[in-house]
Amino acid sequence: MNRIVSASILSADLCNIESEIKRAEKAGCEYIHFDVMDGVFVNNISYGIPVLKSVSKVTSAVLDVHLMITDPIRYIKQFAESGADIITFHYEAASDCKAVIDAIHSFGKKAGMSVKPGTPISVFEPYLDNLDMILIMTVEPGFGGQGFIYETLDKIREIKSILDSKGISVPIQVDGGINDVTAAQSAEAGAEIMVAGSYLFNSPDMERSVALLRK
Ligand code: DX5
Ligand code: ZN
Repeated sequence: MNRIVSASILSADLCNIESEIKRAEKAGCEYIHFDVMDGVFVNNISYGIPVLKSVSKVTSAVLDVHLMITDPIRYIKQFAESGADIITFHYEAASDCKAVIDAIHSFGKKAGMSVKPGTPISVFEPYLDNLDMILIMTVEPGFGGQGFIYETLDKIREIKSILDSKGISVPIQVDGGINDVTAAQSAEAGAEIMVAGSYLFNSPDMERSVALLRK
């Protein structure tokens, strides 16, 4: 399966965000992954709407927005109008997931839903016909540079087999601790969109690293 690479700019040099995004694009990343953290759903605060607006002006890559925020429905409109192409929210953070998905679609954007490593895959079942992407977190959300949690490979296999048995082709994204080795393992388990932050932005040769994520 053809893999897509989504560069998480959380690990980029944020003083030079435009040149970092150009570097990722030039290296072959199709998506730019934009992590939004509210300090409540996760123990960290990153960046939000004004930064996304600026980023959207300097890239033609797909803007892949990962909301790690409580009660995400409150901010769907603003993220949609600030340049997001895909908006992914967390199952654990939403009280009515279908309403969040519908809100994202009402702005013509793609809807993704994500689970933390400890959340069972069964929570996706009611929404499989409505989602455009499934994000399996392969670390606890909140920080870049963590080690891949190997138990999550079983979750990728599980959701992939559910999708296949129902004949649904929603892409599976993985995020956290992705490098050349864990990307290959995740792909083997059924994932096709690889989010990578520290592996790419700390690489001396990003183009080669992107190629390795696809291998
Ligand atoms: C973590 C974020 C990730 C993070 C990944 O909560 O969702 O997107 O930037 O960073 P790495 O690739 O360094 O694990
Ligand atoms: Zn992320």
